[in-house]
Amino acid sequence: MSHFQIRQKFLDFFKKRGHTIVPSSSLIPDDPSVLLTSAGMQQFKPYFLGQADPQKDFGSQRTASIQKCFRTSDIEEVGDESHLTFFEMLGNFSFGPVGKDNPDDFGQKGYFKRAAIHWAWQFLNSILDLSQIDFFVTVFKGDKEVPFDKEAYLIWKEEIGLPEEKIKRFGREDNFWGPTGPSGPCGPTTEIHLKGIEVWNLVFNEYYKDPDGHLEKLNSPGVDTGMGLERLAMILQKKENIFQTDLFVNLITYLEKETPQLDVRTKRIFADHSRGIVFLISDGVIPSNKEAGYVLRRLIRRLVAYQRIHQLKENLLENLAEIIIQDYAQVYPELKDNSQRIKEEIIQEREKFSRALKGGIKHLNRLDKITAKEAFYLYETYGLPFELILELAPKKTKFLKREDFEAEFRKHQVISRAGREKKFGGHGLGEARVFSPEDEEKIKKLHTATHLLHQALREILGPHVRQMGSDINPERLRFDFSHPQKLTPKEIRKIEERVNQKIKENLPVICEEMPYEEAVKSGALAFFKQRYPSQVKVYKIGDYSKEICAGPHVKRTGELGHFKIIREESSAAGVRRIKAILK
Ligand code: SER
Repeated sequence: MSHFQIRQKFLDFFKKRGHTIVPSSSLIPDDPSVLLTSAGMQQFKPYFLGQADPQKDFGSQRTASIQKCFRTSDIEEVGDESHLTFFEMLGNFSFGPVGKDNPDDFGQKGYFKRAAIHWAWQFLNSILDLSQIDFFVTVFKGDKEVPFDKEAYLIWKEEIGLPEEKIKRFGREDNFWGPTGPSGPCGPTTEIHLKGIEVWNLVFNEYYKDPDGHLEKLNSPGVDTGMGLERLAMILQKKENIFQTDLFVNLITYLEKETPQLDVRTKRIFADHSRGIVFLISDGVIPSNKEAGYVLRRLIRRLVAYQRIHQLKENLLENLAEIIIQDYAQVYPELKDNSQRIKEEIIQEREKFSRALKGGIKHLNRLDKITAKEAFYLYETYGLPFELILELAPKKTKFLKREDFEAEFRKHQVISRAGREKKFGGHGLGEARVFSPEDEEKIKKLHTATHLLHQALREILGPHVRQMGSDINPERLRFDFSHPQKLTPKEIRKIEERVNQKIKENLPVICEEMPYEEAVKSGALAFFKQRYPSQVKVYKIGDYSKEICAGPHVKRTGELGHFKIIREESSAAGVRRIKAILK
């Protein structure tokens, strides 16, 4: 089924059920509290909040759309099988007072969990044979503030008839959505995962979060669903990744022919970013040093940097843009009207960056050694991305670490609106998230918890466990490690228990500086494959854990609270990924 057919089938299905079809809104939202449109619900925020009348504007309390979305939160994952910055979201929505909430009601009244879940199920069954697909659904399991979503659970179990093991219960991190920006509608979700990938998110907007973070019940609850078009196409077209679908095939074929020297991941980054660039410019974003313009600038410059590193042909980006414009002309005719402008902006930005690059390279050549401070200077003054600095001067950057560069970045960064947007978390493009002192504190705790987890994994699973990656934000830690198979629930429980036991013991955390060789000899764990300077810091947690690390950490483990693993999944072949939180 082509993506054109998928679009049509989705819209027809919901139109038949009383939904008014609304065109995608711009990637630049009306809402000043968010930078870019990151979800289909963005244009409907006033209807969820009762500030606008859906009957008056749409002749129905139900709408459906296919929305252009842009998210930087997944940018580091772009290049894998299923993550993108720019993507399209299929969505159905309900606002205002709920009517019968009956899936047989094809009228115009509001609906809620029952109709939403039944329709999602019916729609998927109408295009897929779900009995042949590995799938499961998730519901919100509840926490101190918001109760277990028993309603959704029972609909799946008793009305749809799913067996217990297909209905997983997840917490805040996964099954609670929103708001976009500091305040707005939000609520528990139920998600449908096909072949291990989250494809459809059904949000039940029952709450309003005020700017101070308090949750209030909304007068009338709403429904906001979002299904990734690229991911759905991947499943329907039986492809292994989104880049093999008809939404990408022309781009990838071109890149395979013109840039054979690029690895798969980089080709995918070109495909993703060039779509983002085309749609952002088409919607009126101009490269600049702030907000959305800055996001666009970083996308273009990242690709131009790759162009320079791999000596790719000069007009590559314009050619990719042309392919995208042709591919999408039927769906978004405005791309054709804006075609000239899109290419001009790309060329202008490339030239600007090339000039800066020349200056940057000159400066770089004058240095003997590039410290994090110098790297930040090169970045700030000449716009040289971190990766490019490494590529240009491998010897001079031997001891340069990304985390030190990012620490430098955080010290200097200007607080922009970007920092306030929850869905706007990523770094890598330069717009690193702005952390408050409270956030920094949470990160510090999760950092110490990561060390405890690392040691617990080695004790319980075996000494073959090696740290392969780590990422921490105020909400959770993420830890990748080598291990050949999925963890059993029993192993997960044991790991949690071990970490919590070490927290209870209130062990002191002590830092010592020593030469790298000595640290390794003493048995300190190190990040696999990372380059370390000759003098390193070693953090010891009681007699339990000893690890080379730049810190910072808490003083005693008792400060951490309760440790909980919220997810265990595969990250790459032979590498598992754990996400965990502290409560
Ligand atoms: N707003 C929700 C999401 O982005 C569902 O549409 O996932």
